[in-house]
Amino acid sequence: MELSWGNLEDAVRGCRRCKLCHGRMNTVLGEGNREAAILCIGEGPGQQEDLQGRPFVGPAGQLLDKMLGAIALTREDVYIANVVKCRPPMNRSPEPDEVESCLPFLRAQLRLIRPKILFCLGATAGRAVIGREFRVTRDRGKWVERKGFHMLGSFHPSALLRDQSGAWKRLAWEDLQSLRAKYDELKGEGP
Ligand code: URA
Repeated sequence: MELSWGNLEDAVRGCRRCKLCHGRMNTVLGEGNREAAILCIGEGPGQQEDLQGRPFVGPAGQLLDKMLGAIALTREDVYIANVVKCRPPMNRSPEPDEVESCLPFLRAQLRLIRPKILFCLGATAGRAVIGREFRVTRDRGKWVERKGFHMLGSFHPSALLRDQSGAWKRLAWEDLQSLRAKYDELKGEGP
């Protein structure tokens, strides 16, 4: 199949590769700047995302907007996608077979967008993209470079919404500043 946004959109919309297709209202491919240097990767659609067919439009999305705003970026500056494109029931984490079935779509997005930076939000994205052993509290904030991609894992905005002590928010702020610094550093390097 020729790689194009149109083909990818059709393939995701009609996908029945895993059991998540049975419960979905809409698939959520992703949205944003298709030429972005930064690809933000979440876990999977929640209720609002499933209803609207758009990523990060619920409470976690509002926080993601604020996080991007804190480093002078908007949704239009980045592309936002998820590891799985259909909502897992009751917002559970996607299961390994669901992640495996869906990863070809994220890989296709990587080939189309060719971002410089992959910003992985939470453990599911970190494990799917950075490495199977990724753990947020241990590995967040550490840059990993592979195949020309600069990858950074941090907390998922939903986890930050639950963070009572504020300790994770402080660490997430460090990660965001590191993201901004890398973005500025790589901006000068051309496509
Ligand atoms: N959480 C995610 O991981 N992705 C979304 O799109 C929304 C909430």
